[in-house]
Amino acid sequence: MSAFIEASNLVKTYQAGKTTVTALNSLSLEIPQGTVQALLGPNGAGKTTTVKVLTTLITPDSGSASINGVDVVDHPEDIRRMIGVSGQYAAVDENLTGFENLDMVGRLYHLSPAQSKARARELIDMFDLVEAGDRVVKGFSGGMRRRIDLAGALVVNPPVLFLDEPTTGLDPRSRLALWGVIKTLVGQGTTVLLTTQYLEEADQLADNIAVIDEGRVIAQGTSDELKLLVGGQRVEVTVHDVADIDKARSVLARHVTGDITSGADSRTLVGPVENAAKTLQKVLKDLADAGVELNDAGMRRPTLDDVFLQLTGHAVLQEENA
Ligand SMILES: Nc1ncnc2c1ncn2[C@@H]1O[C@H](COP(=O)(O)OP(=O)(O)OP(=O)(O)O)[C@@H](O)[C@H]1O
Ligand SMILES: [Mg+2]
Repeated sequence: MSAFIEASNLVKTYQAGKTTVTALNSLSLEIPQGTVQALLGPNGAGKTTTVKVLTTLITPDSGSASINGVDVVDHPEDIRRMIGVSGQYAAVDENLTGFENLDMVGRLYHLSPAQSKARARELIDMFDLVEAGDRVVKGFSGGMRRRIDLAGALVVNPPVLFLDEPTTGLDPRSRLALWGVIKTLVGQGTTVLLTTQYLEEADQLADNIAVIDEGRVIAQGTSDELKLLVGGQRVEVTVHDVADIDKARSVLARHVTGDITSGADSRTLVGPVENAAKTLQKVLKDLADAGVELNDAGMRRPTLDDVFLQLTGHAVLQEENA
């Protein structure tokens, strides 16, 4: 055994009526202790299936996985003692209050009543649920449920934490708060595997990012390493009149070092350049000379979106499914 969390050639298929869906197609991971691993991928990539295998909720058809040398298929009870899990869809008791839900988790994990209540109070505070703590979950908003469920995964400070899309459906403030909590835990030695469709989140939190598509890892590395894959800086221009797009493209083509791609909309063009600031000035001058009016222009570093596009030929879908 080398890595703390290891997955080796995991395969998992589902039978959906007459068709067989391959959710994991020989997926492998190696996660060192005390680091944050992000699984980044679009809907249906296999993120939740990976989490389910590693947290013993399902068994793989083939391949193997272990945490700290303990095989997840052979010793599920030992694995469950090491891990905290927050699923993609909040699992909370509707009829208990926020506080009671957390206290219940503490008692399940054999904390004393006093310890359990103190921890519940601490987490209610941490996740900004003070006003909601004494209300039954039934009336909670999606984001509040999510926060209670996340807090539940943190009750006993497990050494390994699995967070499946932890911030989907959270408002920006809660998202930042959760990022803070995760950073604190990792500072204390917790190993975290989180799945996300948010490139920014992987960028912010993860020591290592595995880009997943169709059940396999198609690239991995630090966010900087992944960005290097798609090269350096970009110049981006948005024309005012869509009829000018071809003219703009031919001007831009004189300055770029690689392919020009379409940006966020049909009026925007993006191209890789060297010496972005200087090149941008030249592009702007040439566009003005060509009589092309712009709505916007700028330079930017490649994002993980660019990485994904480059690797898969399709963009990451950002879907809010709170
Ligand atoms: N119980 C199931 N029965 C049939 N097919 C399933 C089942 N669970 C998952 N799948 C299929 O397996 C593939 C991977 O699903 P998975 O839930 O792991 O993806 P995901 O990356 O978590 O996606 P999302 O971002 O939507 O949460 C998908 O094609 C999905 O439809
Ligand atoms: Mg999922």
